[in-house]
Amino acid sequence: MTLTPIHATGPSRGRERTPRPRRYLMCRPEHFEVTYAINAWMDPAKPVDTQRAVMQWERLYDLYLSLGHAVNLIDPVPGLPDMVYAANGATVVDGKVFGARFRNAERASEGPAYLDWFRAHGFTDVHEPEFINEGEGDFLVTENFVLAGWGFRSTPEGHLEAQEFFGMPVISLRLTDPRYYHLDTALSVLDGNEIMYYPAAFSAGSRAVLENIFPDAVRVDEQDAEVFGLNAVSDGHHVILPEAAQMLAEQLRRRGFEPIGIDLSELLKGGGSVKCCTLEIRA
Ligand code: ARG
Repeated sequence: MTLTPIHATGPSRGRERTPRPRRYLMCRPEHFEVTYAINAWMDPAKPVDTQRAVMQWERLYDLYLSLGHAVNLIDPVPGLPDMVYAANGATVVDGKVFGARFRNAERASEGPAYLDWFRAHGFTDVHEPEFINEGEGDFLVTENFVLAGWGFRSTPEGHLEAQEFFGMPVISLRLTDPRYYHLDTALSVLDGNEIMYYPAAFSAGSRAVLENIFPDAVRVDEQDAEVFGLNAVSDGHHVILPEAAQMLAEQLRRRGFEPIGIDLSELLKGGGSVKCCTLEIRA
């Protein structure tokens, strides 16, 4: 069946792109290390240079500020090395905060830590989740939809819970490749209803759904996906992504975006990059 496709407004090739200032929440990787393995990228036997992780992270933080974005910081908690991946902490739309509930015990305390931050910073519409969801790791917000990943971490029940809370249609997408265990490793929102994704990370049915709804999407090759090229953050004009994703950067340039490559190699050892480190606060 063919649904009415959502076309990105206006011709997507070479069109003028307008950046919109954003508000982000980040967590300095002061306690970052890899002491357990809960995804295919983590290897506790491989040394991690925490100082280098902090330096690389600071470049991302400075970059956001130089682009005119506001960045809030949450205090890192000792013993929660994955807290640097702030995207997982919650999902925020229209000032409504949908808390995270982690699948793995190692990260369980991060959910309440992030919710406390939001409560302490004036957010009153805060939802404590009943079912497992890992925040913006698996929920990506376009103009009209919440795209939601399941298969490894977040659950379909969590998707329905989010749909009820936000009152937005949630589209469940099944991830099938353990290297792409969160939706934000396989798909990224560029602007409005314009997205990019790596088709092979999804089940056949979910691929068909994406083709139906987003016929204009940027399809990303394996070489760019496996260096976390899709773990990107866009402000509608600038797209911050891992610098190794060279072909993808060229695809984005042809679409009128301005790709900015950055090196987060230490944080890649935990299975995350640009987007994982960035929670968008949509007020
Ligand atoms: N080590 C973390 C985990 O496996 C990495 C999370 C990456 N974050 C993301 N938004 N994909 O949970």
